Amino acid sequence: MTTWHGLIDSDYRRWLPVTPDTPSISLGEGNTPLLRSEHLSGLTGCEVWLKVEGANPTGSFKDRGMTVAISRAAQAGAEAVICASTGNTSASAAAYAARAGVTAAVLVPKGRVALGKLSQAVRYGAEIVEIDGTFDDCLRVARELAAHHPIALVNSVGNELRLAGQRTVAYEIVDALGQAPDLHCLPVGNGGNITATWGGYRNYREADLSGGLPRLWGFQAAGAAPLVHGKPVADPRTAASAINIGHPATWEGAISARDESGGLIAAVTDEQIFAAYRMLARRDGVFAEPASAAGVAGLLDRHARGELEPGLRIVITLSGNGLKDLDASLRDGYTPTETSAATGDVARALRLAA
Ligand code: F0G
Repeated sequence: MTTWHGLIDSDYRRWLPVTPDTPSISLGEGNTPLLRSEHLSGLTGCEVWLKVEGANPTGSFKDRGMTVAISRAAQAGAEAVICASTGNTSASAAAYAARAGVTAAVLVPKGRVALGKLSQAVRYGAEIVEIDGTFDDCLRVARELAAHHPIALVNSVGNELRLAGQRTVAYEIVDALGQAPDLHCLPVGNGGNITATWGGYRNYREADLSGGLPRLWGFQAAGAAPLVHGKPVADPRTAASAINIGHPATWEGAISARDESGGLIAAVTDEQIFAAYRMLARRDGVFAEPASAAGVAGLLDRHARGELEPGLRIVITLSGNGLKDLDASLRDGYTPTETSAATGDVARALRLAA
């Protein structure tokens, strides 16, 4: 068995913008499980695989790009980095910055970030500012501060380092399956991940390593679906807080990924997202955060509309870990059964036969 040391020290290094002098600031990210979903395969008549990005060190796909961004920031001698975030980017930036001995400043929309993500940033020692506004406001301020102060922006907007790292998800999928899937479904918020995923498939294809390109199907929450409507949403609203974004920074990249792949970007309701969220945990044993389930919700929606050809090989990105948002989980239905510590009482509570 070979040991995994993270993306920069893996075979994927040659795809990453690092030099021999770049320090490897890593938490062992990447190499996440690709699990076959018997349940979704059965429902759709396709071969459905789940790329479990919540298994990354801070619990989301953001670690793939952050290892590159923070390693390069450290190489450049940066003392501080800044990002705007709906939660996962801030958790990841804070962790990698801690490991590099760099200060992380994170701007988050007040009251709209899952507590698990916020507590990660707290624990990793980030400087946290909760802004009275949306994610889009946070990103505007972060960009302005980075332009005028000695602090490096580590959002994926225009950040080739982050995107290069995030492309590795496609390399791993092609290497695991032996070829590119027919279709790849994923949630879309700021647009960086669909852009990077497409870029990864294209890189492998151009290097003759993949034998094909998938269609990309991206899904936004209905209350925060600017790419679907073709215009920004001033007051985005979805309980899938990670993708509660009204003005995606990587707009063109997302649209190009959609069009070049012959795919689509469509909306799914919060009800559909939460139904998929419950189904993933209950039927596949994968606890993904609500936003992560948008790709599953979208696939099932297209299937219900009769728009999914049977027999396709499909990969769905599950972008973040369900443990990050326990409020969402418990709000969604948990009534404790309480008993005394008498075995008989517990047996009755469990309706066990005598
Ligand atoms: N899924 C999760 C769990 C996310 O955290 C995000 C984005 C996305 C999907 C969408 O990816 O923005 O590249 O289209 N989270 C960012 C953040 C915005 O700040 O953590 P995208």
